[in-house]
Amino acid sequence: MAAKFDLIVKGGMVAGADGSAIADIGVRDGRIAEIGSLGQEADRVIEAGGLHVLPGVIDSQVHFREPGAEYKEDLESGSRGAVAGGVTAVFEMPNTSPPTTSVQALADKVSRATDRMFCDFAFYIGATRENIGELSLLERLPGAAGVKVFAGSSTGTLLVDDEASLKAVIETIGRRAAFHSEDEARLNEREGLRRAGDPTSHSEWRDPEAALISTQRLVRLAEEADSRIHVLHITTAQEMAFLADHKRVASVEVTPQHLTLSAPDAYERLGTKAQMNPPIRDVTHQEALWQGLRAGTVDVLGSDHAPHTLEEKSKPYPDSPSGMTGVQTLVPVMLDHVNAGKLSLERFIELTSLGPQRLFGIAGKGRIALGYDADLTIVDLKARRTIEDDWIESKSGWTPFAGREVTGWPIGTIVRGHCAMWQGEIAEPARGQAVRFEATL
Ligand code: DOR
Repeated sequence: MAAKFDLIVKGGMVAGADGSAIADIGVRDGRIAEIGSLGQEADRVIEAGGLHVLPGVIDSQVHFREPGAEYKEDLESGSRGAVAGGVTAVFEMPNTSPPTTSVQALADKVSRATDRMFCDFAFYIGATRENIGELSLLERLPGAAGVKVFAGSSTGTLLVDDEASLKAVIETIGRRAAFHSEDEARLNEREGLRRAGDPTSHSEWRDPEAALISTQRLVRLAEEADSRIHVLHITTAQEMAFLADHKRVASVEVTPQHLTLSAPDAYERLGTKAQMNPPIRDVTHQEALWQGLRAGTVDVLGSDHAPHTLEEKSKPYPDSPSGMTGVQTLVPVMLDHVNAGKLSLERFIELTSLGPQRLFGIAGKGRIALGYDADLTIVDLKARRTIEDDWIESKSGWTPFAGREVTGWPIGTIVRGHCAMWQGEIAEPARGQAVRFEATL
C-alpha cells in the first residue's frame, strides 16, 4: 500500500499562517497536504523535534556567474551554497556573459538550471537601452523574476543611466522592476577619490549622496508613471528616511552584510573582501538600516551573493572587483541577530518568505499553508557554530563572515518536498525548478 505522505516533517515548531505551534507537516507531490498530528505513515519521516520549521527562505538577489564566469561560480555551485545555508529559492541577476537580456538568454539559463540547481530559481531580465521595447514581453516569460536595471554601473556591462531611458523602462514594464541605485554621473565625477591600495576610499567615492540622488530620481519617475520599483541593497540613512515616505511606489531590500559589517572596521579587517557596491558604510548608516527594518520600511532581505575568486580580490584596490559571497550565510547571520534581539523571528520570516512572495507575486510559495509548495527552512535556533571559509560551497571559497561565531543554524532545506540538505549533507540529485509567478502563469 502506498504511504499516505511522501514526507512528514515531524514535531517541529512550525511557523504557520496562524502563528507558531508544534505540528507535523505532511507532504504529497511536493506540496503541503496536511498540518497537524500525523503519525508516521510516509516514505520518509524527518524528526524536527526541538527545531523551528520556517517557510522556505527566498533570496531575491544572487549572482551565480553562469554563463561566462563559471570559474568563480556556476548555477550548480551557487545553488549548493543556497541549500547548505537553508535557502530554498533564489532570484539570479542578469550581469552574466552574455547578459540575460533576451528570450534566448533567459531560456538558456532556465534550461541550464532545471534539475541542475538544488534550489528553485528565477532569473532577472537585464534592461538595456536596446531591449526596452521588448521588456514587457521578456518580464512575463516563464522563469523571469522581473526586470533588473543597473542605474549605476557595477560588475559587468549592464547600465541604463540616462533619464529618458530610465523613464521609458519604468513606463513600459508591468511588474515591479529591481534597481541598482547609485548615480552614474556622480560616480564618474568622483572616481579620482579612489586611493590606490586603500579600499576604505571605496565608500568615499561611492558616497551616500550618489545613492540618494539616484533613489530620489527613480522614485520620482515611478510616481510620474504610477509604477512600482524595488530598490535593491539600500545603504544610507538618507535613503531609508526618504523611502519611508514613498512606500506607495517603492519596496526596499537590505543585505545581511550592510546590517552586520561597518566601516572602518570591515575594511581594516577584511581589506578588499569588504568591497562591494553599494559600499559597506559606517555605523550611523547601519543603525538607520536597522531602524528601517524594525519600522517596516524594509520589505525583503537579499544576500547580493556576488562571488569573486580570492586571487581577483587580492588585486590592489581599485583593480579588485566588488562583491562578496552571501547566499549561504544569510540565514545563520540573521538568526544570530534574532538571538541577539535585533529582530524577531516573525520579522525574519516576513523578510525572507512572505515579503518576496508579496512583492514579486510568487505563486504557491512563501508560507506554510495547505496547497503551498513544501519549501521549508528547518533551523536550530540554539545551535552555536562558527562560520568558516571551508563550510562555503561557492567556488570562490570564502565569506566575509569567516571566524564569526553565531547562534542559530540551518539544519534542513526542503524544496517542494525534496530534502535538499539535512545536517550539512546535500542530497543528490538536484531537482531545481523555475519559480512560478502570478504575472507569468
Ligand atoms: O558589489 C557588487 N557586486 N555589487 C553589484 O551590484 C554587482 C556585484 C557583482 O556582480 O559582482
